[in-house]
Amino acid sequence: MEREFIMIKPDGVQRNLVGEVISRIEKVGFKILAMKFHKVTMDQAEKHYAIHKERPFYEGLLEYITSGPVVSMIVEGKEAVKITRKLVGATNPVDAEPGSIRGDYALEIGRNIIHAADTPENAIMEYQIYFNDNEIQSYERIDEDWIYE
Ligand code: RTP
Ligand code: MG
Repeated sequence: MEREFIMIKPDGVQRNLVGEVISRIEKVGFKILAMKFHKVTMDQAEKHYAIHKERPFYEGLLEYITSGPVVSMIVEGKEAVKITRKLVGATNPVDAEPGSIRGDYALEIGRNIIHAADTPENAIMEYQIYFNDNEIQSYERIDEDWIYE
């Protein structure tokens, strides 16, 4: 099983898409291990987006992600990173397929609703910025036998 870190960004919260996004993640079969409604601090944002530090959009990205409350989640499932990234869609909503979250609900790259880590290793690094170990739940879901062969 693989873990993925997902964040519904401030625009997703403001546009009342929290339920819709969580519903898509749940329905595909992923198990929610942790969830939090919070504001990203500047310190957390700098850690999270350190990889983009030299990019021209970096300052705007920090401003955007710290601009209002977000919903952060750790989810677990088979191929969680690859499948979540497909559900999320291309970074620029112009390129995101209809049916994906960004394809259905966003128009601009700088307001693209949701973040999802791009590798399993980055997922772990990222969720450690936002969650302590004692906030991550371990449990069995009753439908697991019907999701996995
Ligand atoms: P994310 O990290 O948010 O899941 O998105 P991603 O992997 O699809 O895209 P990434 O390349 O990691 O970029 C992170 C976020 O930075 C903003 N961005 N703006 N104005 C621009 O050219 C630009 N490029 C990236 C987006 O909000 C993107 O999600
Ligand atoms: Mg990324």
